[in-house]
Amino acid sequence: MARLNIVTYPAEVLETVCEKVIEFDRKLVKLLNDMYDTMLEADGVGLAAPQVGIAKQIAIVDIGDQNGRIELINPVILESRGEQIGPEGCLSFPGLFGEVKRAEYVKVRAQNRRGRIFMLEATGFLARALQHEIDHLNGILFTTKVIRYYEAEELEG
Ligand code: CO
Repeated sequence: MARLNIVTYPAEVLETVCEKVIEFDRKLVKLLNDMYDTMLEADGVGLAAPQVGIAKQIAIVDIGDQNGRIELINPVILESRGEQIGPEGCLSFPGLFGEVKRAEYVKVRAQNRRGRIFMLEATGFLARALQHEIDHLNGILFTTKVIRYYEAEELEG
């Protein structure tokens, strides 16, 4: 277990379209485990590989619900429906929070750490987290989608 350095904006790797993972090896397992530790320590609900300086299609999400730890390798959003508007932040933008419009429902196809394909359907906050992390893998940052930023006083409430 190890904690990785989180890359903060601005950095080229955060705005890079990530490469597909083709090798499902021990190095990948170690990276996933290290990313998870890093995310928990930073109090995040998601983390994408470019945020630890690696431009590969790897992300993890754990919003603390019954789904637990979700590992997404080469994820693709197959379907999305509806919309939700809510607050969002990002470990690569410490202290910055804004309102972002996302789909209410998404269906995602991804591979797990062994390369096996799985499907995942999500709504609400989990759907939001998945969309945020998958955006990272395409070099898209939440700041490009913010409708308005929150002031510090609003966050303390
Ligand atoms: Co982020």
